[in-house]
Amino acid sequence: MPVTENEVLHALRTVIEPDLKQDLVALNAVRNVTIRGGQVDFEVILTNPTGPQKAGIQRACEEAVRALPGVEQVNVTIATVTFGPSAKDRPAIPGVRHIIAVASGKGGVGKSTVATNLAVALAQTGAAVGLMDADIYGPNIPIMMGVKDRPDTEDERIIPLQSHGLKLMSMGFITGDNVPVIWRGPLVTKMIQKFLHNVAWGDLDYLILDLPPGTGDVQITLRQSVYIAGAVIVTTPQNLALEDVKRGILMFKQVDVPIFGVVENMSTFICPRCKTRTDIFGHGGGLRLCEQMGVPFLSEIPLDPEIRKGGDAGVPIVVGQPDSPQAGAFRKIAAALLAQVHIVEAKRAEQAKLTEGLKVL
Ligand SMILES: Nc1ncnc2c1ncn2[C@@H]1O[C@H](COP(=O)(O)OP(=O)(O)OP(=O)(O)O)[C@@H](O)[C@H]1O
Ligand SMILES: [Mg+2]
Repeated sequence: MPVTENEVLHALRTVIEPDLKQDLVALNAVRNVTIRGGQVDFEVILTNPTGPQKAGIQRACEEAVRALPGVEQVNVTIATVTFGPSAKDRPAIPGVRHIIAVASGKGGVGKSTVATNLAVALAQTGAAVGLMDADIYGPNIPIMMGVKDRPDTEDERIIPLQSHGLKLMSMGFITGDNVPVIWRGPLVTKMIQKFLHNVAWGDLDYLILDLPPGTGDVQITLRQSVYIAGAVIVTTPQNLALEDVKRGILMFKQVDVPIFGVVENMSTFICPRCKTRTDIFGHGGGLRLCEQMGVPFLSEIPLDPEIRKGGDAGVPIVVGQPDSPQAGAFRKIAAALLAQVHIVEAKRAEQAKLTEGLKVL
């Protein structure tokens, strides 16, 4: 007796989607079950296709169904639903799926370091990733990504430069070392809009925005000019007691941009010689703040000279020393971020009834 579709679905109730914490059948993620004798084929629709859990889910599905009596072979196809920008009042960039802002309340906490390493770590998972330097006054991306060229234009659109697998745009590419020290607000607004809508970004899974510190013109312009999926807030442990991190979080909440999570940068220092851990700026404040504010804590990055050297040399540590624990810390953040993007977008899609029968939460 061949297995029935019901038995297959019953078996798949044991496979839990790790981000959404529901089984695949409850999520209505199993499609097109076909049974031919001992062979069972079906499709599983995931909303986080580049996430690290894809292979695990595929394996769990195969194992669950193969354990059924009468089943000899199982073919699982993982398919994707694309949650694009859904809010009609905010324009999208055609071809760009998720725009993620990396922000901080204070300057110098490591936004650009986190933005570059995070963007490269996402690209290393197989995603198409762009990195836009939204810091018009103090662009950091050219040095950190090791790019100095001037971009070409085609049909009045700027062709982004490329480095370490990312598409890049920065004010530094346009002005070289002569970035104007003072720019009037309207010019900054115009430049940000140009970077968003006048650059040939092409098809991207993620566009990461490296923001200037604080809550100024650029943040407001960005929010008004484009649909931002969510924000990552970078902080150092000692700033956490200060009100500016909270202010940053509140600003995004006020303008209806979800917080994907907080990164505690320059956390514990581990002495390279004696391996002693020292909490130079303190430790654990990130987690406490997140609990207080009800936002996710993504993880922490150690204070480490190799991270700074990578930035100065134009080779992010996830490229220069991919096997180091520091690179691992950035990859952990990338994975945690993907999970949050997935959760937030799935909720939003459910609310917007965009899921065409796919029950996501
Ligand atoms: N985890 C770390 N360990 C060691 N050095 C770090 C770390 N994170 C950042 N740095 C260094 O600290 C300095 C400031 O970092 P970065 O430029 O990324 O901060 P930022 O928040 O983008 O600053 P700004 O607000 O000026 O744009 C850089 O020299 C960088 O290499
Ligand atoms: Mg910066």
